[in-house]
Amino acid sequence: RTVFVFNGPNLSRLGTREPDVYGAQTFADLEALCRGVGRELGLSVEVRQTDDEAELVSWLHEAADGAIPVVLNPAAFTHYSYALRDAISQRTAPLVEVHISNPAAREEFRHTSVVAAVATGTIAGFGLRSYELALRAIAEEAA
Ligand code: DQA
Repeated sequence: RTVFVFNGPNLSRLGTREPDVYGAQTFADLEALCRGVGRELGLSVEVRQTDDEAELVSWLHEAADGAIPVVLNPAAFTHYSYALRDAISQRTAPLVEVHISNPAAREEFRHTSVVAAVATGTIAGFGLRSYELALRAIAEEAA
């Protein structure tokens, strides 16, 4: 079965973007990691990234319509996008919110997630491994 891995703004710049916070691995590395974990779990993983809120909302509609599970790193949208929250609310399949860093340990504005309450659960602070843990959680939810 298919699982979507959606990434919000600035995540295409992994590897060059604040490597002290987000690590040295690139977005291509993230894609490879997700697809590899998917193969192990028997999931067909489709990884996407956008800087555009409207595009991310439309992808979430696609996931809702197909009842497709989602691993979502909403990036900065996490902290203020009620449009994303409302899109996530329409789903029936599991959706795991992920973060590479631990937002709770960072600036005050990162302590609020407007999407956490409508996600199945949240995994944060484990670097790119956050995505691996989320995919494993989805595989178990779906089993
Ligand atoms: C992030 C944390 C957010 O606060 C930030 O805006 C990001 C990345 C993370 O993965 O740690 O862009 O979602």
